[in-house]
Amino acid sequence: MREKKISNKIFDPFENFRLITENSYIEARYNGPLYGVVDVAGAKNMVTKILIAALSGETGKVKIRNIPWIGEMDITLSLCKRLGVDFKINPDKTLELKIDGFKNPEVRFDSYLGNRVSLLFAGPVLYKLGKANISKPKGCEIGERKIDFHLAGFQAFGIKIKEYDDYLGLTLKHKEFKPATITLPFPSVGATENLLIIASMTKGVSVIKNAAIEPEILEMVKILQKSGVSIKIDANRNFIIKGGPHKIIDVIDIMPDRVEAFSWGIAALSTKGDIFVKYAQQDHLLTPLSVLLDMGAGIEIYPDGIRFFYKKNLKPIKVTTQTYPGFPTDFQQPLSILLSQCNGISQIHETIFENRFRYLERIKTIATSGRIEIMNTCPKNEPCRFYGYNYPHVAKINGPICLGKGDLQIDDLRAGFALLNAGILSEGIKIYGIKLLYRGYENIVEKMQSLGADVKLVI
Ligand code: EPZ
Repeated sequence: MREKKISNKIFDPFENFRLITENSYIEARYNGPLYGVVDVAGAKNMVTKILIAALSGETGKVKIRNIPWIGEMDITLSLCKRLGVDFKINPDKTLELKIDGFKNPEVRFDSYLGNRVSLLFAGPVLYKLGKANISKPKGCEIGERKIDFHLAGFQAFGIKIKEYDDYLGLTLKHKEFKPATITLPFPSVGATENLLIIASMTKGVSVIKNAAIEPEILEMVKILQKSGVSIKIDANRNFIIKGGPHKIIDVIDIMPDRVEAFSWGIAALSTKGDIFVKYAQQDHLLTPLSVLLDMGAGIEIYPDGIRFFYKKNLKPIKVTTQTYPGFPTDFQQPLSILLSQCNGISQIHETIFENRFRYLERIKTIATSGRIEIMNTCPKNEPCRFYGYNYPHVAKINGPICLGKGDLQIDDLRAGFALLNAGILSEGIKIYGIKLLYRGYENIVEKMQSLGADVKLVI
């Protein structure tokens, strides 16, 4: 009997992401309404941060379940590798982590690719080594994305900062973090998570005032609490944290990605189709679902997912993006594609990032009817921290907009889904810059195809 050849190929779910180059593209064209069932992957904006929070714990093992196979994970794990973290990824979408010390203090991107979470490694690496050299965060270019809140927080916890061109040299002034009270000038997601991780390891009581409370952050709070860290949140979004050495719980489950869930809902409605979005959770989507209901969308909520279906002409609307539980900035990009298919004038007032409408400029180039206008002036009577600045942060979409042919470039991750959705409503477009899309969406082309879309990935 011939011996069966044993493949010694290591399981690598990020192979496709790495194969995508700047010349790769997706071809997309209209092929009728989308129908079917689609699964939502684990949340991009929870998984990378919770992985870092887990590294803040005392020696032990942690298993993280429902890992999405997205580029953002690949980038984060490459930072872990460089730090000498021992981990194993399994085909059942679990990640096994050995929590221990770090071999060196270098949190440095090893290629041109980077993300925003490098800065969150500061706490665990400083806690265990007393120093950390951290690549400055990279990420989607949707505004200036300063890191001043993080740095002010670091100083308050007793971290000395030396700034270099592309990295930060951090050291502990004393042997350990000192408890701090920090007021965030704006409820920043990343700064809240970063300072929460540090506070969870800091002996004594720390306070983060004006914190963000996005669902991914509350998941982090829950996991830290289960690991023995006392965290109270008062009515004014102030976190009161009693930290110290703690051992992270053995098993962590990643929540479904709420941005992906909503985006599939939009894909269903914009193509006049009907999609059951498995694992979509109502709790995380309260405001966005009501926006869709106001427009006349068909929505049915079940324990294991949400059905989005077209039932009549949808009405145009006005939306302002806000921090949670308001309408999220990450949802305006898919939403605008739906608005482009409505009859009449809709408006999106973006108040979180000052430059998040570049994708609409791209879409304008293939519009054969209707009108899209990007403005700097805030709508009347709407308080906005961008008031008086010359930021292109208000979009007026006068639909219906017919989408013709052309080549489009993705400027940022969420815009990637929006352009793809535009593609399946168009006469035929090629979408470039898809590495950004694959950073945040797992098997996106295969999922679209399974719903009946005419899309093709060309690597
Ligand atoms: C997170 O970015 C998400 N990224 C973003 O999703 C999301 O759009 C954003 O939160 C808002 O919900 C990740 O979780 C990886 P912020 P983050 O700090 O943490 C200003 C996606 O595609 N600010 O809440 O970087 C900042 O400029 C991405 O998944 C400062 O001024 O966002 C912005 O105007 C895109 N100084 C506002 O606060 C600081 O030190 C909110 O940013 C920090 C932030």
